[in-house]
Amino acid sequence: MSKGYGDQETINNAPISGTFSELLEVSLSRRQILKGASLLPLLGLPLGCATTAGPPDSGELGFSAISASSEDRVRVAHGYDARVLYRWGDPVGSTAGMPVFKSDASNTAAEQALQAGMHHDGIEFFSLPYGSGSSERGLLVMNHEYTDDGLLHGDGFANWSAEKVLKSQNAHGVSVIEVELRNGIWSVARPSRYARRITARTAMRVSGPAAGHASLQTSADPLGLEVLGTINNCAGGYTPWGTYLTCEENWNNYFVNTSTIPDEQRRYGVNAKGSGYRWNEFDARFDALAHPNEPNRFGWVVEIDPFNPDSKPVKRTALGRIKHEGAALALTADNRVVYYMGDDQQFEYIYKFVSRDAYNKADRAANRDLLDHGTLYVAKFGADGSGEWIDLSHGKNNLTAINGFASQADVLIKTRQAGDVVGATKMDRPEWTAVHPKDKSVYCTLTNNSARGAKDQPRVDAANPRVNNTFGHIIRWNEDRSDPAATTFRWDIFVMAGDPLLADANKHGNIKGDVFGSPDGLWFDTAGRLWIQTDVSTSTLGRNDYAGIGNNQMVCADIATGRIKRFLTGPKGCEITGIAETPDGRTMFINIQHPGETSSERNDPANPQAVSTWPDGPEGGRPRAATIAIRKTDRGVIGT
Ligand code: FEO
Ligand code: CA
Ligand code: CA
Repeated sequence: MSKGYGDQETINNAPISGTFSELLEVSLSRRQILKGASLLPLLGLPLGCATTAGPPDSGELGFSAISASSEDRVRVAHGYDARVLYRWGDPVGSTAGMPVFKSDASNTAAEQALQAGMHHDGIEFFSLPYGSGSSERGLLVMNHEYTDDGLLHGDGFANWSAEKVLKSQNAHGVSVIEVELRNGIWSVARPSRYARRITARTAMRVSGPAAGHASLQTSADPLGLEVLGTINNCAGGYTPWGTYLTCEENWNNYFVNTSTIPDEQRRYGVNAKGSGYRWNEFDARFDALAHPNEPNRFGWVVEIDPFNPDSKPVKRTALGRIKHEGAALALTADNRVVYYMGDDQQFEYIYKFVSRDAYNKADRAANRDLLDHGTLYVAKFGADGSGEWIDLSHGKNNLTAINGFASQADVLIKTRQAGDVVGATKMDRPEWTAVHPKDKSVYCTLTNNSARGAKDQPRVDAANPRVNNTFGHIIRWNEDRSDPAATTFRWDIFVMAGDPLLADANKHGNIKGDVFGSPDGLWFDTAGRLWIQTDVSTSTLGRNDYAGIGNNQMVCADIATGRIKRFLTGPKGCEITGIAETPDGRTMFINIQHPGETSSERNDPANPQAVSTWPDGPEGGRPRAATIAIRKTDRGVIGT
């Protein structure tokens, strides 16, 4: 999601006060620190000379970079083609029915429940059959993050009704589709016994330490063990045993509380208005005054087994409750699973989860509840390039009853507050994390933070060094001994985004290559090429300081040299997000989210600003988010 439906430019973390002179002082001391530190890229000096995290090898960028673009189409590097595969409203292929999309948006809520949801985001590919490693047949599992109700209904918000709320809820969640490659072209296999939609109303089990806690109990679910739905599914991840992880991000936007907001709700951004979804008007559980525990049932990582269409999704509470961006997997030497996770809001934290047990390669079913047991940590970035993972286990690090945490369930339900207590580092909106396939170094996009260093807001620090950080940056770290379970690490900044040619010294970047802003999606291919997807907000795209950057795009970095090349540009008003490849690396799937988004609150196709008709053209009625499949015309490996 690029445009703030309330939360992304607001701050729910307690501000740090600081006078302007204090800010200057911190800024100065940071420079002094840097003189002797390994953070030279911050000063615009060449990348690749950093000594803390630079891996020894890299993937070669074999394509020719393309120019920035403001065209209303997808452009991709020479020698590649990109084809639309799965658009909002396309039938998922369920054996229960396959309603066709109606370009006037007159599909019913019931039909929407059997069609692609809106605003595709995180995506993963699972070979079919399970374990086969096939690159020609598989399941694509993807998130549908949110809805633009101006587009979703023929008459937008007019005549708001229970049916419209239900259609919006059914356009949220996850798609599981079966896809196959024939004659070099991917298509959705329909019908498929695997195909299904998971929506904001699908029943899911709550599991892990917070399951059944009093704070999760509601009148409809007095045991606190079953939640209806998953919402604002942003990025995700996967497990080594072939399940999909979907991450609940800006879930607070759906709730409304018109009375005094309890601290627990305020810390996560629940407010009196919500962000325009208006579900509370016809679905009482989104009234956070009447149902104060319902918000506690969102903000989790949800595990879905795509190979079993009858399986019930599971909310894994051990991984904490935040505005989860994604969950990037690393494996320890003894096969415990580690997930790196960003909490995407200004001044929020970076987390990791380390499972207690090793996963069982030989017995898939034995991993059923592996994600229910483990340790959650939050990151603290030292000014000298050192870093620490602080244990968020109840009873440790002041996470005790006197500080509001009576149990581990309390810590997990109030993960942000636990991060506050232990003094984690407030970051510039942590989005995706990515783990290098060979050396296990970890990269994280910090997409932007216009409030950094503003009056009464947290000051710059070494890890977030730019006042008014409108372009964002990418930080990286090496765990000690390259052990993902380590509790200490060394970090540096990989790149400051933004145009190096801009005169404003506060905003310039140090990119070696093609400029971009607001990095968000982040992913390593198996060769170690780092793919970076951008989510510059629509309102920012129109600003002079972004003039040379064009539409949102996907670039690729050679991390050994710092060289960055533009690979793809999206249509007008879109965000590029979600990335997966087939095991052979010869097909890449990405998502084009919210093409044609305007800077108004909701995207009305009658609005003269609604300039995108991607992907269907003027006769298509309205722009549609879509998955595209990218192939090399010579059938080679993507990026070579
Ligand atoms: Fe849904 Fe932070 O992007
Ligand atoms: Ca994102
Ligand atoms: Ca974003």
